[in-house]
Amino acid sequence: MDLFTTAAGLLAYAETARRAGQRIGFVPTMGALHDGHLQLVRAAANDCDVVIASIFVNPTQFNNPEDFRLYPRLPETDADLLRSAGCTALFLPSVEEMYPQPAVLKFNFGALESVMEGAHRPGHFNGVATVVSKLFHLVRPHRAYFGQKDWQQVAVVKQLVADLSFDLEIVAYPTIREADGLAMSSRNRRLTPEERAVAPQLYQALAQAAEQVRQGMPPAQVQAGALATLAREPRFTPEYFEVADAQTLQPLTDYAPGRAVVLCLAVHLGAVRLIDNVIVSLG
Ligand code: PAJ
Repeated sequence: MDLFTTAAGLLAYAETARRAGQRIGFVPTMGALHDGHLQLVRAAANDCDVVIASIFVNPTQFNNPEDFRLYPRLPETDADLLRSAGCTALFLPSVEEMYPQPAVLKFNFGALESVMEGAHRPGHFNGVATVVSKLFHLVRPHRAYFGQKDWQQVAVVKQLVADLSFDLEIVAYPTIREADGLAMSSRNRRLTPEERAVAPQLYQALAQAAEQVRQGMPPAQVQAGALATLAREPRFTPEYFEVADAQTLQPLTDYAPGRAVVLCLAVHLGAVRLIDNVIVSLG
């Protein structure tokens, strides 16, 4: 596996592969890798000739400086994991390399970011769109791989690709969970054993709500029930629980036949903010 820390080095590598007619798969990450990330690398290795992964804890998408400072950074372990998963090149830039000057351009994703992560983390998707655009320009992948764990991020990135005519395909893979249901996340490393023990209740609340949606319980009632369930665990401070249209992400007042529903939550558990979601397809 080749390692690049400069944009110029990565650009030259990707350009050579492209000229040689190789298909390039790209997996952007912030590191502290787990199976959720690695499934994306494996999928890329399966589909493409060259797999480029990036690890960059992107300061512009953190609305909380403490969260940025404490974000786990494990580049050596990550490099080994990537190599074993079939990654051919790793891009590990510094903040100065990615932002030689502060980015001034602002993205506005309209209704897509007026809800959930967009509403609760001001500037978050602007930072994501900025760094993803920079990375897409450097790598010019044929395919880029994302996880449904960040359902709203996938919607925003697809909008970015459509609006700015990036010539690539976005593919999204399901959320990988621990055996007890907790969605894998780099931030799980920061949970205390006591917090880790109650964390699977987040998925249980989502699974229960999904069942209620399937049974036709009105969205407002599902939401109120889930928030009440979460409130029973004193360590949880829920930020939101939404019953939304899976495509538009807008909160639902009712179900429409044939339209998938996404249930999304964000909860603070100790010093850590966790998000998760499940999709419910209605027949
Ligand atoms: P990060 O949180 O490191 O996630 C990198 C990719 O892995 C994202 O597409 C995310 O959705 C996916 N992922 C994370 N946990 C997952 C899980 N349990 N199951 C499936 N996929 C999972 O998302 C980011 O980084 C950043 O915002 C980034 C796109 C790199 C831009 O900075």
